[in-house]
Formats: sequence, structure tokens, C-alpha cells
Amino acid sequence: MKTIIEPFRIKSVEPIRFTTLAEREQVLHQASYNPFLIHATDVLIDLLTDSGTSAMSSSQWAGIMDGDESYAGSRSFFRFERVVRELTGLKHIIPTHQGRAAEKILFSIVGGAGKRIPNNTHFDTTRANVEFSGAEAFDFLNALGKQPAAKGDFKGNMDVEALEVFIKENGRERIPLCMITVTNNSGGGQPVSMRNIRDVKAVCAKYGIPLFLDACRFAENAYFIKLREPGYADKSVRTIAREMFSYVDGCTMSAKKDALVNIGGFLAVNDDTLAQNARNLLIVTEGFPTYGGLAGRDLEAIAQGLDEVLEEDYLRYRIRSVAYLGEKFTAIGIPIVQPPGGHAIYIDAKQLLPHIPAHEYPGQAVVCELYRLGGIRCVEIGSVMFGKYASDGKLISPPMELVRLAIPRRVYTQSHIDYVVEVSEELVSKRDRLRGYRIVEEAPMLRHFTAKFEPLG
Ligand SMILES: Cc1ncc(COP(=O)(O)O)c(C=O)c1O
Repeated sequence: MKTIIEPFRIKSVEPIRFTTLAEREQVLHQASYNPFLIHATDVLIDLLTDSGTSAMSSSQWAGIMDGDESYAGSRSFFRFERVVRELTGLKHIIPTHQGRAAEKILFSIVGGAGKRIPNNTHFDTTRANVEFSGAEAFDFLNALGKQPAAKGDFKGNMDVEALEVFIKENGRERIPLCMITVTNNSGGGQPVSMRNIRDVKAVCAKYGIPLFLDACRFAENAYFIKLREPGYADKSVRTIAREMFSYVDGCTMSAKKDALVNIGGFLAVNDDTLAQNARNLLIVTEGFPTYGGLAGRDLEAIAQGLDEVLEEDYLRYRIRSVAYLGEKFTAIGIPIVQPPGGHAIYIDAKQLLPHIPAHEYPGQAVVCELYRLGGIRCVEIGSVMFGKYASDGKLISPPMELVRLAIPRRVYTQSHIDYVVEVSEELVSKRDRLRGYRIVEEAPMLRHFTAKFEPLG
């Protein structure tokens, strides 16, 4: 059969609320044109993030009831530890309340002034945690990954040559670890090939630098390897995922993505001293090492989710349904990062709205219009999220002005997505009339979460 259907039945439903155009215009104004400041009850289709928004399975809910809430030595922790260890092969498994808590602990220990961290592309919280420690974050995305319209199988790959030059220039002592983010969220949700992971590992090993995986979307990445990389078509996704982890010395994970849960994360490392230091910090900031900021029930749900996410029927549906939205967008003339990534479609706002310059935030214009027209919430990934100011106050923009429509896992059906396409078609017909925005209030770090905007006339 050509039709790839949702590999589940719906047992429990949550109503969504319809609003009028006038109501949405008022909501936008009250939220200072920042989607993060809109109340979720005013959103019809919420594509703000795929993080923590998954629908859990009946087995995960059963696990929630079965969670062992003992403070120390909980049975649920040992199940969680076994599942994560079997998957990653890593020695020390340290639960945290979400991904950034794992990052905070890791970079508090290995970061600090003078240290430099390379990554294919740091996700915003990863970069913030590196910088918060006093260290500097550097991105080494391959050249193809920087061209939104160019097609490529593994546009999330790291530029291995540039990495080696960087290591030679800075010296091993300044680089406590190298990281690869799979899939590459900020680079368009694009996968990283096994070959690239292996090549990066070889360079890191040559200079004695540990390699870490930001593993949030490891299963989606593994499925892309199965689909696209020679030699992997006949391997199970679990085997592929295990091979990915076999090259690394540690990982951070936000379980809110590919563990199909609403909260949770972990840090996993091989190094005994690093693990000891991490656990010491965990006790101060998160909790005792057998729960680390989570309830026993959360650990059960993560353990179950990590098994379910590797089911190939699920991954086939997941990757196909994201590609479906991408294909429809292309058909109606919306330029997107090609090919569609694993968890989201990224609109190229620079190309869609060429009359709005980067310092007037074209991505924010798309975000606000999709909400205004159809109650769809998404997020800008461009100058709002990554813009920095030069000493003369001028905005330094990132290379791309994107808008991300992230697809929550197992939440929306094809008719929801068809509605998104219809609303987007209306946006395309009005694109010349859209105007930019200016920021009237912003925080010094991660400004996109709280910044306030005003539309330009
Ligand atoms: C690639 C990547 N790393 C890290 C994080 C941070 O995870 P969390 O939101 O659980 O703190 C995210 C979240 O979106 C992410 O996409």
C-alpha cells in the first residue's frame, strides 16, 4: 500500500479551541507578537516545538501508574538505567529533569573561561550553557548544510576538515570535548551520517578529545541512516542507533524528543571521574542520582518510550508525515530547507519575504501571520533567536532566517496538517503585504523566549 497511516488508534482526545480572526489579532497584540507569550488555549495547531509535546502510549501511561517513587534505589530508575545503557553502551547514566540540565552539569564541569567547544551546530540551550560556563561555542556545519535550498542526504554533517584545523589552532587543552547534534535541530533538523560520526571520532581520537552526542533525536537520525546511507538498509534501527552511540564517550539527551515523554533527560558518560563530579553536582541542582529531578513514573515512561521510538512502523510514519508537509509547502511555492528534516519543516523566510531585511525579522513576520490567519503557532529560528549585537549596536544576523514548524510526535493527524497547508497558502497570496517587526524589550540571553515586538508600519 502507498498510504502510510498513523500506526496507532486514538484512545483519548483533547479538544482544541477555534478562535476568530479578531480574537487572534488581539491575542497577538497582548502577547507582544511573541508566540512564546501566547496562551496555549488560544492556539489551534501548536507547532511551536516537538519537545515535550508527544502523545504517550497506553504502555507509557501504564508505566506512569507503575512508577516506584522511592527516594533512593527506585526500581523505576534501574529499569531506566538498563534501557539507556543497553541503547547507548555508556557506563554512567545520570537522569536529569530535561536536556539543558544535563548540559548545565556537563559544561559546569568541563567548560569555563578559555575553553572552546566545537559542534556541528549548537542548539540554543547548548550554546547558552557553554557560554554561561565562560567557554565559547563554535559551529562547524558542512558547506551544503548552509544552503537551505540545496538537496543532500546528510546536511547535518560536521565539517571534519574545519574541525581539525580548529583543534590544531587552539590546542587540545582548550577543547574539553567535541559534540555532534543528531539530528541537527538548528541546522534544519537534518541528519548526520554514520560515516561523519566515524570521521569526527577519528579526528577527536587523534588529539585525545572526547566525543559527545547531543542525542535528542537519535532515533530519527538512525532511521535516516537506514534510508539513505549505503550499507544500512538491512540493519535494524536499534542496531544503527547502537552503532552511533558506540563512537562516543558520552551524551546529553532531552527525553522530551525521542523518548516520547513530556519531561525528562539524562547525561551518560564513560569517564568515572566526570561521572562522579556530575553526580555531585546533580545532588545539589537536580536530586539524588537515582531520580535526578524526575519522579519514578517519569523514568518508567522514558524507558518505555525509548523502546517504542525504535519501532520501524512508527519511524516510517513519523519521517513520512513530516516530509508530506514539506512536499505540500513546496507545491504551493513556500521555500523550505531541503530535504525535509526529521521533526520539523523549516520555511526559508529570507526567500519567502525578500522585501523584509534581516534586522526587521522576516521570520517573525511569518510566525505572526500564520497565527493571525489560522491560529497556528510556530517559531522563528533566525535573527531573533541567534542575532547578536556588534559593539556599534548593529545586529549581526545568522546565515539563515528560518521559521520552524515542529511536528509533535503522534499528536496531529493528516487533516490537521492539510489545514496548516491551506492557511499557509493564504499567507503566500498575501506575502507582499507583510511587514517586519522591531524588538522593544529583550533579555541578555535566549531573548526569543521573552522578547517583546512591535509591528513596523
Ligand atoms: C538539539 C537539542 N539539544 C538540546 C535541547 C534542550 O533540551 P530541553 O528542552 O529538554 O532542555 C533541545 C531542545 O529543544 C534540542 O533540540
